[in-house]
Amino acid sequence: MKLAILSRAPRSYSTQRLRTAAADRGHTVKVLNTLRFGIDLAGDEPDLQFRGKPLSTYDAILPRIGNSVTYFGTAVVRQFEQMDVYTPNTSWGIANSRDKLRATQILSRHQIGMPATTFVRDRADVIPAIERVGGAPVVIKLLEGTQGIGVILAPELKVAEAIIETLQSTRQNVLIQRFVKESKGRDIRALVVGDRVVAAMRRVAQGDEFRSNVHRGGSVEAVTLDPEFEKVAVRAAQIMGLRVAGVDMLEGNDGPLVMEVNSSPGLEGIERATNLDVAGAIIDYIDNQVAFPEIDVRQRLTVSTGYGVAEIQVGEASDLVGKSLGDSGLRERDITALTLHQGTQVIPNPHAGHVLEAGDRLLCFGKLEEMRSMIPTRRKRRTKLKKLPEQPIHDVADAPAHPSQGSTPVYGGDAGGS
Ligand SMILES: Nc1ncnc2c1ncn2[C@@H]1O[C@H](COP(=O)(O)OP(=O)(O)O)[C@@H](O)[C@H]1O
Ligand SMILES: [Mg+2]
Repeated sequence: MKLAILSRAPRSYSTQRLRTAAADRGHTVKVLNTLRFGIDLAGDEPDLQFRGKPLSTYDAILPRIGNSVTYFGTAVVRQFEQMDVYTPNTSWGIANSRDKLRATQILSRHQIGMPATTFVRDRADVIPAIERVGGAPVVIKLLEGTQGIGVILAPELKVAEAIIETLQSTRQNVLIQRFVKESKGRDIRALVVGDRVVAAMRRVAQGDEFRSNVHRGGSVEAVTLDPEFEKVAVRAAQIMGLRVAGVDMLEGNDGPLVMEVNSSPGLEGIERATNLDVAGAIIDYIDNQVAFPEIDVRQRLTVSTGYGVAEIQVGEASDLVGKSLGDSGLRERDITALTLHQGTQVIPNPHAGHVLEAGDRLLCFGKLEEMRSMIPTRRKRRTKLKKLPEQPIHDVADAPAHPSQGSTPVYGGDAGGS
C-alpha cells in the first residue's frame, strides 16, 4: 500500500518507528507535515493540495495530530475521508477524544466505568458539584490538557473552589472529577489496535506526585492486562471511533475507570517497557483494513428522500416482544435492521431467526414514516445515578493490585498523547 503518516515530528521516535515498520513490510510510506496541506473545495470532487501541488494518490493515512493543531489537522483528515482514503482514526474520533468533556459525554451512555465527573459553570454550583463527586481531595482538569499539564489535585474544598474560580475567570473550562485514591498514583495505558490490546503498561507516579504521565516523571512497567481492562479499553476506543488509541485507565475498587482515550499515543514508552513491536502491529492493521475506508453511514443512507436511520426500541408492551425478526413484519414495511442491541450485546446483521426481547434496541434503515410509530416520544433514561455511600469514598479499602511483570526505568516519551 501507499501510506502517508501525517505528522509534524518526522524525527520523533514514534514517527520513525512507524515509517520503518511500513518500509520494512514493503509499503511505500511518506511522512507529510499536517500543516502543509491545502483543502480546496470548489472542484467537482474533494481534493487536497500538498505544499501547493495536487497530492498524489494514497491508499491510507495514519494521522498523528498534535494537540496544538487539532482544528486544522482534523480538517485535513476529514478531507481524506471525503476522498475515501482509509484512516484508522476518524476526524470525528480525534476531535472528540481530544476534549475530555466531550469524550466523557460520549462514553457515558455505553456503560464504560469512568471516575465520577461533573461540569458546571455558575459559581453557586461549584461546591455542590465537588460534593456530588465525593468531596475533597478532588481532581480538577482543563478540558484540553495533555501530558499531565492542567490536571490538579485540590486537597480541600475551599482550595478547589478558588482554583476553579481562578481558571474560569481566565475563560478556561474545567472538569471536576472524583480523586481515585485507590489507584495510588498509578494508571494503566493500553495500546489498542483494531479490536485488541497489542501492548499494555502500568505507569507509576514519582514521589508524592499523583499524575503518572511519563512527562511528569512517571516510570513504566509492562503489565499483563486483566481481561476486564482489555475489554473496556477496546470498547472505549471503538466507541470513540479510534482504531489506534492509547486508553488510560485507573484501577478503581470496582474495576477499570477510563480517564481518556488518546488518538496519537506515543510509542517509545510502551515499546521499551514491553519489548513489543507496536508500530508493526499498527501498520499490519492498516494494511488489512485499507479496502474499508470509513463511511459516514447516516450521510450515505439518507440521500433517498423519505428514508433514514433510526433506533427502534422494543418496549415491554411492544407487540414485537417474543417475535423473531423474520416474523416482526419489519421487512414488509421496508425496514432493515442493521444491528440489534440486546442487553450488553451488540449483534450486527441480526438474522431472521433472532427473537426480540423487551428492552432491545434495533438500529434500522428504512422509510421514516413507517418507523415513526415505533419510536417512543422520548428516550427513556435507563438507570439513575448510583447514590454515593454515606462514608466518604476515599476511606474505602484499597483495591488488590493487578499482576505485573518486569519493571523498567523512566523514559522521556515523544510528541504523542500523554
Ligand atoms: N480522577 C483521578 N484520580 C486519580 N488520578 C488521576 C485522576 N485523573 C487523572 N489522574 C492522574 O493524572 C494523570 C493525567 O490525567 P489525564 O486525565 O490522563 O490528563 P492528560 O491528558 O494530561 O494525561 C493520569 O495519568 C493519572 O495518573
Ligand atoms: Mg493521560
